[in-house]
Amino acid sequence: MDRIVIRGGKPLHGTIPIGGAKNAALPLMAAALLTDETLSLSNLPHLADISSMANLLVELGVDLGMNGHAPNGGHAGRTFDLGCPNIKSTTAPYDLVRKMRASVLVLGPLVARHGVARVSLPGGCAIGTRPVDLHLTALEQMGAEIELTQGYIEARAPQGLKGGKIMFPVVTVGGTENILMAATLAEGETVLGNAAREPEVIDLAECLVAMGAKIDGIGTDTLRIQGVDSLHGAHHTVVPDRIETGSYAIAAAITGGNLLLEGTRLDLIGSLADTLRKAGVEITEESGGLRVARMNGLHGVDMMTEPYPGFPTDMQAQAMALMATAEGASMITETIFENRFMHVPELCRMGADINVHGASAIVRGVGQLSGAPVMATDLRASMSLVLAGLAAGGETEINRVYHLDRGYERLEDKLSACGALIERVKGA
Ligand code: UD1
Repeated sequence: MDRIVIRGGKPLHGTIPIGGAKNAALPLMAAALLTDETLSLSNLPHLADISSMANLLVELGVDLGMNGHAPNGGHAGRTFDLGCPNIKSTTAPYDLVRKMRASVLVLGPLVARHGVARVSLPGGCAIGTRPVDLHLTALEQMGAEIELTQGYIEARAPQGLKGGKIMFPVVTVGGTENILMAATLAEGETVLGNAAREPEVIDLAECLVAMGAKIDGIGTDTLRIQGVDSLHGAHHTVVPDRIETGSYAIAAAITGGNLLLEGTRLDLIGSLADTLRKAGVEITEESGGLRVARMNGLHGVDMMTEPYPGFPTDMQAQAMALMATAEGASMITETIFENRFMHVPELCRMGADINVHGASAIVRGVGQLSGAPVMATDLRASMSLVLAGLAAGGETEINRVYHLDRGYERLEDKLSACGALIERVKGA
């Protein structure tokens, strides 16, 4: 298995291009199932999760054309043409869903367009149990019959889905996306209350509107969707990745460097930017992107993960690595996933002083971390170890690199172009 080896302690200087958002791209690709015309998506990142979704869609009957490269702030993201004149299979098999939970996003579009879907239950994952019960209850409220058999969700709506009032008891990003897609082709009006407002949900809603969907309240917690008979093709450019943006902002901060994050926007990282500024990081908007720099010391600040526009759970691990090197203490509270502190023991192996009490971690800054061999169990935890390694004295070796390949495009290239001593060592 491949490893990443970092010799830390070098401030990063230069430009890092930010790609399209993985978490926007996945539901956007699933939206191709809603129409028999071509959906063209540009600024798609080169990531393992995008390939997994592409494989699943091809299995369901999508013709996938890779259409060269589209310009994106000086670097190129991919363009896919996704056409689905006929749905050939309505089964999302275990082997594909197991690799990537977001495969469940094909459920809503399949039932809405074809009246039937069979999708493997995603099961648990490293950061918590992560059920899909809210997706299923909402589909039932829209008239689908749902059965769970032999590890599969079987959904049927032979007469089509019907609009209704759905109030999510907790904010769910994937649930909002799945039901939003389903509602575009349902009969009558669907109202989604307590809907997720993440930029990725907004991006999906805007693409659906370009495809002919009727959606009001985009960007608010109440989405009103008037069902239409059919959707048509469209072209859409994927929003910049706010988690990649935030991760490289922390790379600048933790190394005391100065980076231009190209092709991204401040409004996508509002609450993270507020937190970083309080900790002593400078963030300014420039034409072409965001400049992030740190000249002076860092100090500990508290943070609590919340649905957007709150502090993102997908930035918690990376922010913890930063706080581990700050002066003073920081309390980091995780409210979205119950088991998302798997990076703590690994950061402690690098010299961090972190104690977990229930859903909160007390991080006492130690100034300097020291390199060590480490391994992580999920994508963002792996990135927190990369960031810690960039700041640490000596050598850090990160195992299970496949997690990083799911969500960070050309990680070593982007960092080494800014002076990081980082390389991938091919395993047997
Ligand atoms: C998405 C993101 C993920 C991010 C998360 C929260 C994608 C592909 N993934 O995941 O990176 O960390 O949002 O911002 O976009 N829940 C239920 N029942 C459900 C659905 C969710 O109890 O049916 C709970 C979850 O266990 C969790 C909370 O709701 O505690 C939020 O989960 P959700 O927003 O649905 O996360 P995902 O869409 O899976």
